Amino acid sequence: MYRNRAGGPVTDERVARRAVLLGSLGALATGALVSCGGTDRTAGAGRLIGPNSAEVRDAERLRRTAGQRVVTHRITAQPATVDLGGRTARTWAYGETVPGPVLRTTAGDLLRVEVTNRLPAETSIHWHGVALSNDMDGVPGITQDPIRAGRTFSYAFTTPDPGTYFFHPHSGVQLDRGLYGVLVVDDPAEPGGYDQEWVVVLDDWIDGTGQTPDDVLADLLSTSGMGQGGMMGESMRSPLLGGAGDVDYPAYLLNGRTPYAPVTLTGRPGQRARIRIVNAGSDTAFRVALAGHRLTVTHSDGFRVEPVTTDALLIGMGERYDVTVDLADGVSPLVASAEGKTGAALALVRTGGGAGPGGSTAIPELTRRVVLGSNLRAGPGVRLEDRAVDRRLDVVSAGGMMRYRWTINGAAFPDGDPLVVVPGERLRLRLRNRSMMFHPMHLHGHTFGLVDGGARKDTIIVRPMESLEVDVEADNPGQWALHCHNVYHAEAGMMTVLSYRT
Ligand code: C2O
Ligand code: CU
Repeated sequence: MYRNRAGGPVTDERVARRAVLLGSLGALATGALVSCGGTDRTAGAGRLIGPNSAEVRDAERLRRTAGQRVVTHRITAQPATVDLGGRTARTWAYGETVPGPVLRTTAGDLLRVEVTNRLPAETSIHWHGVALSNDMDGVPGITQDPIRAGRTFSYAFTTPDPGTYFFHPHSGVQLDRGLYGVLVVDDPAEPGGYDQEWVVVLDDWIDGTGQTPDDVLADLLSTSGMGQGGMMGESMRSPLLGGAGDVDYPAYLLNGRTPYAPVTLTGRPGQRARIRIVNAGSDTAFRVALAGHRLTVTHSDGFRVEPVTTDALLIGMGERYDVTVDLADGVSPLVASAEGKTGAALALVRTGGGAGPGGSTAIPELTRRVVLGSNLRAGPGVRLEDRAVDRRLDVVSAGGMMRYRWTINGAAFPDGDPLVVVPGERLRLRLRNRSMMFHPMHLHGHTFGLVDGGARKDTIIVRPMESLEVDVEADNPGQWALHCHNVYHAEAGMMTVLSYRT
């Protein structure tokens, strides 16, 4: 029999608990997870379902199929000097470029990625949006040990659902460096209907411009955040989002380029293009529009929506949207305006040689109709089945700039109780924002449905003082992070765990 330090027998419960308490978040051990025995109906009753449990293994076994195609990649996280267009920056990247590679599987394939860490820091990769095996979710301290400098870790998991996903570290504020890439999971039953497919990744950029993201976080934590080192929390406001961010970035990137040297996306007049748009920013929502065109939104966070045609689309950090556009003749700016901030990211859409609106980022479409995720309806076949709710949980976010601390249900992670759920339950989360800033709330390992047939999503903007309800099918056992996708908010505490127990 195994013995724990205190000499007592190591029960399954303790082993499972220890399994989720690796790495730097060890404080979770005594604080969060143990304290959940008590008032809740099931919390004390069941065993915690850790990332290395039989339940997690069984769930992945069900996703695997005989003769499953295997897609293999190698990724090196490393320091790199990248050309952002008009300036170079020393940063951390996946390989030599920002963004990193676009990985591609077909739904049902097994993805194997060997990640080598050549950074001077611990890291991990989180596969944002994928309903994957919990032990592959890439969250140090919750699902795995961090990948130490010089070490390699192999991720291997089934990619069950088609869609546009991305990947990034889940260590500190590393996401705000150049560490991100896109994962496209193709639909074997894709109806097609488009001629071009473009991947567009948006980012807010500061690394290598005299400050690192760690410097930014240190500034935010050590000051009130106002009038200090370029942070102007109170002045970055948006009519749509209220408090729109904490960091005034020197540059905004589209596919790694500033507007001074934008990428060109090429097609022919009359063609239909599908654009997969990912917001990989850390503190910036983007309002996206294409001059002289309307956008038809077809997917949110990988899942189909009832198509909506709009002039502009507001994309929070961690959200993805697929849109189609019918291409006109000429050169048209595709603009991603930093919501509530000064600046924009840009690409040029070119069809033939005709003249077009050129490269201005002040295009009229930006101030016409704007769509948000909470305006969309689930598409055919993706609406969550109607079912009685077994458990309701409040997720109350709060905090502010006066003291840079962001909380969920009154506590900054890793203090505070996890949200307990039992496999097979239908869960209703009430996401309540009790602060004056917007928060893109992200749940790992699941795609929730906004109540009453709203879109399926894994990341949803919750506006100041707004409350949104989402339903979750508790069908993927394990320990799953739930947090604000503002990386500075998450680091300053706005994170919790959706914790499966038997
Ligand atoms: Cu893309 Cu936990 O995040
Ligand atoms: Cu937030």
